Amino acid sequence: MQIDVFTLFPEAFAWFERQRHVANALARGHRLGYVNYRDHTPLSAGQVDDTPFGGGAGMVLRVDVVEAALRARYDCDPVALRSERRVLALTPAGRLLDDALIVELAREPALTLLSGRYEGFDERVPEHLASDRVSIGRYVLAGGELPAMVICDALLRKLPGALGHEHSAVEESFSEALRGAPEYPHYTRPAEFRGWPVPAVLLSGHHAQIREWRLAQSRSRDGPASRGGTVSLP
Ligand code: 6GU
Repeated sequence: MQIDVFTLFPEAFAWFERQRHVANALARGHRLGYVNYRDHTPLSAGQVDDTPFGGGAGMVLRVDVVEAALRARYDCDPVALRSERRVLALTPAGRLLDDALIVELAREPALTLLSGRYEGFDERVPEHLASDRVSIGRYVLAGGELPAMVICDALLRKLPGALGHEHSAVEESFSEALRGAPEYPHYTRPAEFRGWPVPAVLLSGHHAQIREWRLAQSRSRDGPASRGGTVSLP
C-alpha cells in the first residue's frame, strides 16, 4: 500500500516511522510519502492559509494551495484523482473512524490523507478534492497530523507481516472475529499477585473452555457497563 500524507509538518512523522509495526510494514514494501503544502504554494512568501470570508477567528488552509500540492504529486487534475483513489480530508466533522472503516481502507492499493491546520480547510477542499471526510473522534485537535498517524497506525497493523504474530490482528478488539466487540482480557505471570489471581480457566489447559470464556468476556465488555461502569452524566 502507498499512503501519501499531505501536511505542513512532515517532520512530525519521524517518530511514527520508527515504531516497530510501521518500520516492518515499510520494510515489506508498503510506502509512506509526505507532501508539504508549503513546497507547492502558488503564492509568493510561501503562504498556505488565509483569513476566513465573513470574519471569525483563525486561519483557513487555502483550496488553491491544496490543489497545487495534489497536482504536483500526481500530475493530474485533482478533481479526477478522487475517483481513482480514496482522498481523505481529515476533519473533526467527518465520518467517525472505526475498525470497519480501517478494514475498508486496508483493501485500497493507495491512499491520500489531507491534514489540515488552523481552523481547517477551505470547504472546497473536502467538497471537490477529497473522496471522504474522516474524523477520529468528537473533539477538536489542532491539526490533522495526529489523526493521520492514528489512521496509518491502525491500517498498517492490519496489513500482512506488520505484526510479529500473524494471528494478533485477527481476533482483536472490534474485529469481525469478535463480532465487533472489545477484546477479552489477557493475563501473564505471576499467576497471583497481591491476592489478585488469574482466572482459573486460563490455567486449566482446556482449550475449548478457554475459548468459550474469552468469547463470553468479550461479549460482556460490549455493554454500557464497559463504558465506565454506571452511566451517569453530570
Ligand atoms: Cl481528523 N482533525 C482535527 N483537527 N481534529 C479532529 C479530527 C481531525 N478528528 C477528531 N478531532
